[in-house]
Amino acid sequence: MADATTTPPVDQTVLAEALAGLSQACKTLPPKLFYDEEGCRLFRRITELSEYYLTRTERGLLETAAPSVAAAMLPGALLVEYGASDEDKAEFLLRERHASGIAVFAAYMPIDVATEGLEQARARLNRSYPNLRVHTMTADFLRPVALPPTFAGMPRLGFFPGSTIGNLEPSDARRFLAQVRDTLGDSALFLVGVDLRKDPAVLIPAYNDAAGVTAAFNRNMLVRLNREAGADFDVDAFSHNAIWNETKGRMEMHLVSQRDQVARIAGKSIRFTRNETIHTENSYKYTLKDFAALASLAGWRACHVWTDARCLFSVHLLASD
Ligand code: AVJ
Repeated sequence: MADATTTPPVDQTVLAEALAGLSQACKTLPPKLFYDEEGCRLFRRITELSEYYLTRTERGLLETAAPSVAAAMLPGALLVEYGASDEDKAEFLLRERHASGIAVFAAYMPIDVATEGLEQARARLNRSYPNLRVHTMTADFLRPVALPPTFAGMPRLGFFPGSTIGNLEPSDARRFLAQVRDTLGDSALFLVGVDLRKDPAVLIPAYNDAAGVTAAFNRNMLVRLNREAGADFDVDAFSHNAIWNETKGRMEMHLVSQRDQVARIAGKSIRFTRNETIHTENSYKYTLKDFAALASLAGWRACHVWTDARCLFSVHLLASD
């Protein structure tokens, strides 16, 4: 039996992903490694920060959009959410009813790497929506998924909120959108949350908040590797940096080595010079036009877009036809 003093076994997937990124000339770590239990907790705190306008703004847009999206769905539909750490945003849709009183959605399939989060969501949903069929899927949402045969023939709505799409290179975002189109098939709808290009004076504090929550979120990736991949990073010797890359149109998060140092991970030495960085995340910001063009290249037709008065964030409804 494992107890608190035992070293946990090395997670081979986490280790392989970390090593692949850290062995490159420009060191990187994939953003999905942020979301262990502590990372999910820190991310939830980020979403409550005054500087982090994204979640708050998107929730407002979803509240407005939900009735129109629901009206466009045939009853007894399936909601497939990509990268769903909790059911918080899906509930805007799940609670929708047709005029007859019947729930629009009969089934919900959240896909995420955070198993605990999915299980908790399922338990809560079973209580609040006893008739909803919840089918959780622990997977990297970028991998192609097959819809379970029991959901065959149901009307389908894909849901990808939070501007998680911004984590992807635009070419990968396009591939992902096309793959979702394949999974959901004809006559499907897809609701996507996309953060918009704006003044860096608004963007930078959103990724470098005064309370240091984002810094803790970024550094937690190293804490996780120490625990799950047998690494020995000196976490305090790396500082958080968030920069706006104007040419690429993206926010970048880095962990900056404060001195020359060596970290060991699974018997390998990773050398850092002073000020060398580990690039942990890109967060692409789109214009409405650029995102519509990307979606159209992936085989989606733009049906509707919701934005807030300040044009901070957008929610796009796409159709596969
Ligand atoms: C969850 C990917 C949308 O890019 O804004 C928050 C993650 N990173 N603060 C984002 C994040 C730093 C977030 N996404």
